[in-house]
This record gives sequence, C-alpha cells and structure tokens, in this order.
Amino acid sequence: MSFRTIIEPFRIKMVEPITMTTEEERKTLLREAHYNPFLLEAKDVLIDLLTDSGTGAMSTRQWAGMVMGDESYAGAVSWQHMHAVIHRLTGMEHVLPTHQGRAAERILYSYLGGPGKTFISNTHFDTTRANIEYSGAEALDIPIPEGTQPATIHPFKGNMDTEKLEALLHEKKAENIGAVILTVTNNSGGGQPVSMANAREVSRLCRQHGVLFVLDCCRIAENAWFINHREEGYGDMTYEAIAQEMFGLADAAIMSLKKDGLVNMGGFLTMRNKELSDACTNLLIITEGFATYGGLSGRDMEAIAIGLQEVFEPDYLRYRIRSTAYLGEKLAAMGVPLIQPIGGHAVYVDAKAMLPNIPPSEYPGQALVCALYEVGGIRAVEIGSVMFGKYDAAGQLVTAPMELVRLAIPRRVYTQSHMEYVIEVFEEVLRRKDQLKGLRIMEEPKFLRHFTCKLERLH
Ligand code: F0G
Repeated sequence: MSFRTIIEPFRIKMVEPITMTTEEERKTLLREAHYNPFLLEAKDVLIDLLTDSGTGAMSTRQWAGMVMGDESYAGAVSWQHMHAVIHRLTGMEHVLPTHQGRAAERILYSYLGGPGKTFISNTHFDTTRANIEYSGAEALDIPIPEGTQPATIHPFKGNMDTEKLEALLHEKKAENIGAVILTVTNNSGGGQPVSMANAREVSRLCRQHGVLFVLDCCRIAENAWFINHREEGYGDMTYEAIAQEMFGLADAAIMSLKKDGLVNMGGFLTMRNKELSDACTNLLIITEGFATYGGLSGRDMEAIAIGLQEVFEPDYLRYRIRSTAYLGEKLAAMGVPLIQPIGGHAVYVDAKAMLPNIPPSEYPGQALVCALYEVGGIRAVEIGSVMFGKYDAAGQLVTAPMELVRLAIPRRVYTQSHMEYVIEVFEEVLRRKDQLKGLRIMEEPKFLRHFTCKLERLH
C-alpha cells in the first residue's frame, strides 16, 4: 500500500523560533532596507526562501560527526573522510577543499581565464560569471531554446545547446576557450535538470576539440533524481550511480556543498589533471588554507562527508523533489505563471507574465519580491534585470532575457504548513497585482549589484 501523502522523512528534534511581524512593520523594514531584501535582517523574515544555499538543516548523524571533527592543520582524519567520499563520487584524483563554491570558482577561473578567453555554459550562475568576467574573460550562455521559454514543457530544460557549442568551438578555437561549464541543475535557468545524453554530447565535443569540461555540480543529486525518473534507461540505477556516471564524463568539477552537500558551509574543486591541480593548489594555499582543509574546520569536513552521502538517499530525494513540486503545482493552479516543469530546489515565478503592467526596465521581479515581503514576510530573490541587467556603451539598460522570482526551498527546514502559508500569501499578492509599482536603482556596485544595490519605488 502506498499513500498519496509524502511525509517529511525526518522528525524535528530542535526548533528555532520565528519572530512574527505585521504588514505595517514590514513596510517600514523594507523601506529601510532600500527595497532590497538582501539588506533585511534575517530575524525580520518569516519564511526565508532567499536561497537554498547553506540554509539546510543537518541530521543527527552530521551533528554527531561535528563532535568527531579532527582539527589538525595537516592531514586531518576528517579531511580523509571528506576526500574519500568525494573521490568515490567523482572518480577524480585531485580534490581541493574550499570554504564555498565561489572560492573554487575564483581559483580555477582566474587560472584558466584572462583577457581573450571565452567560457561557455548552459547558463553561468552569477558568481561564476562574475569570477570569469573579473579575470577579463567573457562568459557565453547557450541554453537550449526551450530553456528560455518559461511555459514550454521539456524534461531537460537545463540542457546546453550542443549545436551552438560545436559552432562556437570551431569559431573560437580551442586555445581561446577557458572551459565549457555544465551547471547541474541549471540554477539561473530555473533549476532545470540536464540529461545524461546532453552531458555525454558536451563531453564528446570537448574531447574532440581538446577543451576542458567542468561540471558545476552543486545540485547533482537533485539532477540525478530527474534523470532516474525522466531519462530512458536510468530508472533502475541508483541516484549515486547516475551522478558517478555524469562525473565520469567531465575533466573537472566545482561544487558548492551548501546545496547538495547538506551543510551550511563548504565547497570543493576536483580534477583529473595533475598540472592543473598543482597550479590550483598554489592558489588555494595563498588564499584559502593548506591543501587538506582549504578554509574549512575539521568538523565542517566531517559533516560534509556524511551529508554528501545522505543526499542520495531515495526517501530524502523523493521528499525533496515532491515538496518543491507541491508548492509549484498549487501556485500554478491559482494562475501564477511559473517556469514549467517545476525544478528541483526552487519554484520560479515568471514576473514578466504575472505583472505585465510593469516593464522590464522597472524590474517587475523586484516589485514581486517586495510585495511578498510586505504582504507575508516571505523573502525571495529576483533573478532578472536587477541581477543580470547590463548597461550598453550609451549607458542604456540592457534587460535580462527573463524576469524571474525564485522561491528557493531550504533543505529539511520548512514543513508543509509553512508552504500552505506561502500559497495563501500569493493569493493575496495576486489580488493586489494591478496596484504593484516598479522600481528604480539608486546606487549600485560594479559587480553582483543585486546583493547591495539600493532601490526606490516608482509612483
Ligand atoms: N554555482 C551554482 C550553480 C550556484 O547555484 C552557486 C550558488 C554557486 C555556484 C556558488 O556557490 O554560494 O557556495 O559560493 N548559489 C547560491 C544560490 C548562492 O542562492 O543559488 P557558493
């Protein structure tokens, strides 16, 4: 007998109170945060869907592992545990620990990048793009066409356009290409999965042209769930074996362990090539730490070794993917336009379609993010022209291809009734949608402007 209700496969042993606030209080708090939820204090947020990164709850086994952490500077037992789990999963010889994903990105892409170099991806995540561009290189996104059409259903909307990849490899020549990066799942493209067939083709083209193939794999367990359920021939394979097969296609991988590592902090860089690893290890030691801890405490490494195994447990992954889909299905049923199908770690609202009265130059995604906070204390993130907008030579804003709002679900943190509340808040925001106003950016930094920019509401 199998039941319709998929329960959270855990009990709660420790609780963290949420502070309740009123709509009036939240209006003031948001104004004081310059209409940028990154500038809010977390204690003023009821349901925090800003990110699924580093916001998950650890298991009893992970907390027990923390106590066993070996804090030796060099060659700690905890490092050996972490190394063994990553080595078994990726099959790659050289593993460099880092404090989070972007530290690994900075090391690898500053070494491979520089002026004149091109990086190609299904979609570069914002820190990936920033690290590449900061080195002076360019970052090109080539998702499949369906990947940028929010309503189009495709089982693997995160795929890379391999015809475009082949053309670019011919046009740019191998020596000018820093790397080809496949992001699984494709976060900025809607948390959409990448198929094994697509990864295989990317791998084949990279080998044929002698170009480095990097997996940006921070949600590879969630991606494996989709391959198991959607791709022919993978239904009987374990999630871990699917991930292992995908790693087998790549030359290197970068992982932010704050996602599918089920920890609050951590990352790694791994590769097959010794020369590349030696060069990266030098950079690691200069800025992150010695090669056997790279910015992590022994207890962090112990929790990583355990989390990276727990994440592949079938009950966990089923709960994870189903609970994200539950929120998405309810919102879609009430008429909220979403990226379909629902991705693994988040529900992405198509704010351009939901708020047609606000043009992209007035940031409809940010308008929705602000409304969700004021109405219900929910914190979400805009993934649109605030995050990816650029200015052309004449100083005109070039808007992003999509105006999305991401509701990212922290792992093992919120229950179904928290999600019921989010659904109710959306009902109210939908009722008020014609009164919502666009925004204008008043102050912004040069890179990653969404984190710290200050905005003003238009009247
Ligand atoms: N790559 C991808 C696909 C990511 O989603 C992230 C982080 C990183 C790299 C960088 O890792 O944060 O550990 O330095 N994504 C977070 C998010 C921040 O909210 O999606 P990091």
